Amino acid sequence: MATEVRGLVNSEDGLLDRRIFNDEEIYRQELEQIFARSWLFLCHESQVAQPGDFFSTYMGEDPVLVVRDSSGKIGAFLNVCRHRGNRVCRADSGNASAFICAYHGWTYGTDGKLIAVPSLKEAYYDELDTSKWGLVPVAKLEMYKGLVFATFDADAPPLLDYLGEATWYLDNFFDRREGGVEVFGGMFKWTIPCNWKLAAENFGGDAYHVGWSHLSAIRNSFAASTAIDPQTGGSIVAAGPVNIICFGADDDPTPPIPVLRQYEADVKQEIRDRLGPRRDLFNPFVGTLFPNFSMIRAGSRSFRVWHPKGPDKVEVTAWAFCDKAAPAEVKEHIRLGSIRGFSPSGTFEQDDMDNWQECTVTAKGPVSRRIPLNNQMGIGHDSFNEDLMSWTSDYRMSENTHRRFYARWARFMEANSWADIETNTP
Ligand code: FES
Ligand SMILES: [Fe+2]
Repeated sequence: MATEVRGLVNSEDGLLDRRIFNDEEIYRQELEQIFARSWLFLCHESQVAQPGDFFSTYMGEDPVLVVRDSSGKIGAFLNVCRHRGNRVCRADSGNASAFICAYHGWTYGTDGKLIAVPSLKEAYYDELDTSKWGLVPVAKLEMYKGLVFATFDADAPPLLDYLGEATWYLDNFFDRREGGVEVFGGMFKWTIPCNWKLAAENFGGDAYHVGWSHLSAIRNSFAASTAIDPQTGGSIVAAGPVNIICFGADDDPTPPIPVLRQYEADVKQEIRDRLGPRRDLFNPFVGTLFPNFSMIRAGSRSFRVWHPKGPDKVEVTAWAFCDKAAPAEVKEHIRLGSIRGFSPSGTFEQDDMDNWQECTVTAKGPVSRRIPLNNQMGIGHDSFNEDLMSWTSDYRMSENTHRRFYARWARFMEANSWADIETNTP
């Protein structure tokens, strides 16, 4: 039975108890109730394009190996040796015909089956039933537009049911043009001493900090915010499990780099035709899919996973991406822009990390943690928009998605079944 956490999250009044950012027991409950159940993003299909391609990741704190087997099927397994529990594959990604455990040499095929055991005949007298000791697969693995997701919970609803209205918002990042996206080769991987939720909530709706925290980056043309009329549209939107900051339909979040601005102008109509009438209302540009998959496409195009590593530590894995159909020159500008904006040394990323880190540190003080956090911006000033099929704020800044993110978090934390989670309620 899960511990009651609803008292810590008051979404009606926009108050949040700071224990949820540093309590070890609450963190353990998150791993069980959220990360061992929810659909979680693993990787983009192109990152395991060929038979034998593999990709190491985590689902919560469980190491997971995604691999395309020799028949071309993508599988995902606990990256844990069935013998003494060693982590089998230590590389981030690559291509392999088999995975050999470093400890005693148990060897697994790309389909997860145990295919070799040293001294099987002599030491085990050929009595070990190897068919029972393959790598443990995830309960379900499904894809949406090239995005590979998995869950450890056999009772989880189908992926499309879980995503619900979030799919259209994902399309704005990963399916703007024919062919979807291209993911640039290298991965950024680093650790931030902050709670994972502070990063997830920021990407999922914190338009408020952009013009303040990132002002120097904006003034140096790393972002487009100064080019956007603050009075034009834009909204903070919650659609099922996704929380998104949207600009107005005609606002372009691209920084003032001529090649990129020209590209966006050239493909604007094509993208609108592809994404349909909702795109005539809004231009989504940064968001978080609950719980820990975030994305941004404002010149810097990055998608990332916030892997929890304890209540006050998160390991980030991030990639730069762009439309596959974009010209080479555009791709190069986006690649460079992503390094400069959203990477461990990126201008925006450094501002954000510093703030999240301090928010985490202050939640440790016995007196400061008695004081609730304030998520009250825009209470009563959002509504369900039938055209967008989402909760949208009246003004372009709001904490409506912060309140919904933590309401969803609390439902997951307490729910004993998926029916209690009400996953399509933002
Ligand atoms: S722990 Fe992997 S072979 Fe022993
Ligand atoms: Fe930021």
